Amino acid sequence: MTKEEILQALREVHHPARQDRDIVELGMVHDIEIQENKVSVTLGFPKRRDPLTEYLVGSTRAALIRHLPSSVESEVKAVVVEEEKPKKKGLALGLEQLAEVRHIIGVASGKGGVGKSTVAVNLACALARMGYRVGLADADVYGPSVPVMTGTEGAVPAAEPGEEEGKELILPLEKYGVKWMSIGYFAERGQALIWRGPMACNALKQMILQVKWGPLDYLLIDMPPGTGDIHISLVQDIPMEGAVIVTTPQDVALADVEKGANMFRNENVNRPIFGLVENMAWFTPEEHPDEKYYIFGKDGGARMAEQLGIDLLGRIPLVQGIRESGDAGEPVALGSRPDGIAFLELAGRLAEKLG
Ligand SMILES: Nc1ncnc2c1ncn2[C@@H]1O[C@H](COP(=O)(O)OP(=O)(O)OP(=O)(O)O)[C@@H](O)[C@H]1O
Ligand SMILES: [Mg+2]
Repeated sequence: MTKEEILQALREVHHPARQDRDIVELGMVHDIEIQENKVSVTLGFPKRRDPLTEYLVGSTRAALIRHLPSSVESEVKAVVVEEEKPKKKGLALGLEQLAEVRHIIGVASGKGGVGKSTVAVNLACALARMGYRVGLADADVYGPSVPVMTGTEGAVPAAEPGEEEGKELILPLEKYGVKWMSIGYFAERGQALIWRGPMACNALKQMILQVKWGPLDYLLIDMPPGTGDIHISLVQDIPMEGAVIVTTPQDVALADVEKGANMFRNENVNRPIFGLVENMAWFTPEEHPDEKYYIFGKDGGARMAEQLGIDLLGRIPLVQGIRESGDAGEPVALGSRPDGIAFLELAGRLAEKLG
């Protein structure tokens, strides 16, 4: 008898607990050995004990006896085989942890130092004050600023085993009613973070995808400065709904803002820009809270928004208190001073826009 003929015979053996499919179809025939007067068949069973092992070995033997000439001996053995794990496509990290997040919003700019992190952190606190469930992922792997701005420096996030074996989930830190995550929690204080491109991308995705966010209304992503590879990869791999762009009012910033907006607007990505935030819109001295000095020009943000066809979501003044509270880890949006109220208004407008 040939191997084919034996396989044909084995097709008569059905697995009663697996929709009555036969053992060949189920891939349980592990090995067939044909000798002159003996045929050995080895059946493979998954690790956990199949209660029908004895039954299937018996019926396989019976099928062989039915088909083989009586002069040929038949033998059936059972072995345990490792189950093949289904392979994940694309990203090694899946999007499971974002399953309960309603809005994922990038906070970006074209240029560095315009106040993205300040706006992101205060926006997060303001949304939380309004009663929303909020998280913030600091996507600046080179210069994370969220730990300092929230006074969570030196904190070590806990980890817990994930559903998949060997894969841990990082628990975000919770403070001011917001869940925070940053690569800064995993680095020594003052240690420069030097990454090669692909490493930076991976670390970054881990900071977002391997974190147990739980149910959230808003997850803000504080984007690193610039519009390079990291940004493109980030925008493509994280299902961001859209972005908020931060700018200062100078005319020279227009080209940068446009670059920032184009990261989201290009045809491969095609995500909406929810609005422009004009930071440092005017200067108000501490001792003269009613005065406004338009040191970077007046209404630059409004003009820019119009030129780019983006809504102007909010204007934040340049005040000493915003910088100081950032350095002290107590975002102004937690308080009731006018600069804090500006962030609450911004949060209100964003929330309204997103329904
Ligand atoms: N409206 C403001 N009033 C006063 N200081 C501000 C204001 N916005 C930002 N700053 C200060 O400016 C500095 C840069 O701000 P921030 O770190 O938020 O910018 P960024 O765009 O995130 O920078 P980077 O591009 O490096 O990530 C910080 O010291 C911050 O406290
Ligand atoms: Mg920043």
